[in-house]
Amino acid sequence: MGVSDLSFDTLKVRAGYDPREHNFSVAVPVYQTASFDLGDTDRAGRLFSFSEFGYLYTRVGNPTVDVLEKRVAALDGAAAAIAVGSGMAAVTYTLFNVAEGGGRVLTTAQVYGGTFDSFKKIYPNFNIDIDQVEDLDNLEEWRSKIKPDTKAVFIETISNPNAAIADIEALAEIAHENDIPLIVDNTFATPYLLNPIKYGADIVVYSATKALNGHGNAIAGLILESGKFNWANGKFPQFTAPIYMFRDSTGHERSFLEAFGSAPFTTRVRMNYLAYFGAALGPFDAYLTLLGLETLSERVQKQVSNAEKIIKYLETKEEVAWVRHPAAKDSKYKLLAQKYLPKGAGAIFSFGLNATEEQINNFIDSTSIFSYHANVGDARSLIINSPKTTHGELTPEEQEFAKIPPETLRLSIGIEDANDLIADLDKAFKSTFSDKSEDVA
Ligand SMILES: Cc1ncc(COP(=O)(O)O)c(C=O)c1O
Repeated sequence: MGVSDLSFDTLKVRAGYDPREHNFSVAVPVYQTASFDLGDTDRAGRLFSFSEFGYLYTRVGNPTVDVLEKRVAALDGAAAAIAVGSGMAAVTYTLFNVAEGGGRVLTTAQVYGGTFDSFKKIYPNFNIDIDQVEDLDNLEEWRSKIKPDTKAVFIETISNPNAAIADIEALAEIAHENDIPLIVDNTFATPYLLNPIKYGADIVVYSATKALNGHGNAIAGLILESGKFNWANGKFPQFTAPIYMFRDSTGHERSFLEAFGSAPFTTRVRMNYLAYFGAALGPFDAYLTLLGLETLSERVQKQVSNAEKIIKYLETKEEVAWVRHPAAKDSKYKLLAQKYLPKGAGAIFSFGLNATEEQINNFIDSTSIFSYHANVGDARSLIINSPKTTHGELTPEEQEFAKIPPETLRLSIGIEDANDLIADLDKAFKSTFSDKSEDVA
């Protein structure tokens, strides 16, 4: 049976692994080795001339990591995937790979704080300039801000922390009209809730640290390619330039596209960025991520259902100024969420407290089931004050631009019992607001 015949829930526990190729081990083995024996000099010659595939060194490839890559590629309907050492490595390697040598990337302020900050601090030093639209929802603004040297459009499908929903199909169309790829960070949605390639995304990145793993026990990232983008359209010479290392038996020097036609993007990340920048994913972390992935649907289903109950609860509280999630009653993203996220718009969202800074701190400190830490998508629920932590690198003006006012709290809902979570928040409300005579900001 081909992978394409199998459903998501089968693929998430089976894809990319054949026990017959691994001593009939039922669980995916952890190939905890730095290097692989080359066998003999003839074989080494074939491996290094790419006429035979084989593992050489874990920085550029490892059989445990390979199962993870194949499994996530199958879940997303991608042509290929590459695992890297973190979500940040996935974002950075992707944007470098597309805009290397100079150019621009068009994006939005509605992204993870680390990503936003790297746009400002890192990319310009590498001759890559970042433009940001002011309004994620304004398609005309996206269209008008693409310049001749813009190399990609980059968005988060569900944004951190406000759960804003990008119109993926429309943005893919705008990118393609300009011969550039749409790159999406699908971390908050996961492939269970949303398949961006189906709507035209060319490259998908994940922080697998989050819900793909779901247990908060490993840092990991993934980059996937649809296999459909035309890298030979003249805008991306890095994929068409001849390379000595890829010469064929006649001595003809092939390009990444010629040599690795079905997966030029991820292969180039492997051979240039993993090989030389080196943020490789270790085999044990790949194993933990694979283990987590086996329960992705079950976890995310419960998380979404819990999140929807908690949103309803928060909306009954007079101290809650706003809730940002498509399930919130006044969300402007209901239609886009219906289209792209029929199983739910995830379990990570922000809300604003009509409160002083001291009250916000007290609210966080009064929760006991919600843990206070910087991760999302974990089986455990967590709370965090984004403006001071995950988006704390942004200046007050940048926070305003990114729609993260000082009263913002972000929740990531886990798989605990929803009533216990609501009781925990209720306790925090009582402890924080029982004295109504206090001034509120
Ligand atoms: C949407 C998103 N992308 C990327 C990252 C970076 O991932 P990592 O922490 O695995 O480097 C994060 C981290 O919070 C994130 O929320």
